[in-house]
Amino acid sequence: MSNILLVTSSPRGPESLSAQFATEIAEGIKARSGGSLTTRDLAIKPPPHIGQAYIQGRVTRPDARTAEQAAAVDIAQELVDELKVADVIVLGSGMINFGLPSQLKVWFDHVTWPDVTFSFDETGPKGLLTGKKVYLVTAAGGVFSKGAYTPFDFQTNYVLHLLGFIGLTDVEVVRIEGTAYGSDAAKAAIKTTEAAVQALLAKAA
Ligand SMILES: Cc1cc2nc3c(=O)[nH]c(=O)nc-3n(C[C@H](O)[C@H](O)[C@H](O)COP(=O)(O)O)c2cc1C
Repeated sequence: MSNILLVTSSPRGPESLSAQFATEIAEGIKARSGGSLTTRDLAIKPPPHIGQAYIQGRVTRPDARTAEQAAAVDIAQELVDELKVADVIVLGSGMINFGLPSQLKVWFDHVTWPDVTFSFDETGPKGLLTGKKVYLVTAAGGVFSKGAYTPFDFQTNYVLHLLGFIGLTDVEVVRIEGTAYGSDAAKAAIKTTEAAVQALLAKAA
């Protein structure tokens, strides 16, 4: 039995391919493991941008926080608590201007929290959210896994780095890419990714 957390972030609503494949993975794992599934759609309910209340609130003792600081920290705490109880995290990200959607960046700004999800010691930074399995689905109109655009993938590599920084290092990446190269290319890309998802679920069973 697994606690599965599904986090989606595309602003494209029902057309989102990252959300579609991430949901398929999360529901497939739930069907196989009999676990629970918690969903968080960051596009429907985006966390606010972080501000002074959050930055100062998280280094202030809970009983000394202002009401504004407490409210700001509570938002981050809820997101971190969801991560802490999850055994399996399925994350969907669709490329916007060569990077991740801003909704997902804001989520990382909340959950990347010193002494809560990462710490520093004499050896450097240490991620604290260990022992979890992550499936990362990244969608893009262009092709970034190979070819001339590889250096411009500021989505998959960046998200992997952010996940690793908070201890989420066991990550399986599923890409859906090249969908902007005409309808035949889009259909072929969807078929390839569908097969990859089925293979992944067969392995996860
Ligand atoms: C506002 C916007 C910006 C985009 N920027 C890029 C981009 O920089 N590079 C790219 O390859 N595709 C870009 N795309 C295409 C998306 O990455 C593609 O549609 C992808 O499937 C989006 O993920 P989703 O299907 O989960 O929404 C952009 C799409 C939108 C709507």
